[in-house]
Amino acid sequence: MIAFDIEPILQNHPDAGRDSLIPILQEVQARHGYLSREAVVRVGEHLRLPASKIYGVATFYNQFRFQPQGRFHIQVCRGTACHVKGSAAVLDAIQRSLKIEAGQTTRDGLFSLEVVACIGACGLAPVISINGEFHAGVTTKKVEQILDSYRKRASENGKGEAA
Ligand code: FES
Repeated sequence: MIAFDIEPILQNHPDAGRDSLIPILQEVQARHGYLSREAVVRVGEHLRLPASKIYGVATFYNQFRFQPQGRFHIQVCRGTACHVKGSAAVLDAIQRSLKIEAGQTTRDGLFSLEVVACIGACGLAPVISINGEFHAGVTTKKVEQILDSYRKRASENGKGEAA
């Protein structure tokens, strides 16, 4: 599956060198949603770079994920308006509750977490988006309540409501 999907991307970069690494990884992630180990190894073969080198470069950039997204994908805005209104504390509360860092997915696959730039709803700051649903004026106190509402949703509907 991975090899099947990734080859057209690599074929678009036939004589790719190290400069092509980031664009290729971006395309792979856009197609797969994350960078699987298999994909990293295959990109490494194509560019003649060891996987360890690719991980080293990719982890430097916040944009890359190494795990599939959870059923509920949380985006915490760290744009200026949200930052001023306390988004760092909100992010911290979410990380503590889910026991994951930004860029990771919970073990049960229910939640994944991402920090994003302004999502265009500054009037609602601080704002988080979960599967595209905006939550306005989020406080550290509200975090647990919001997460619980999604946990409840998942337990009521085993299949969830993934976007
Ligand atoms: S700064 Fe957060 S929505 Fe614009």
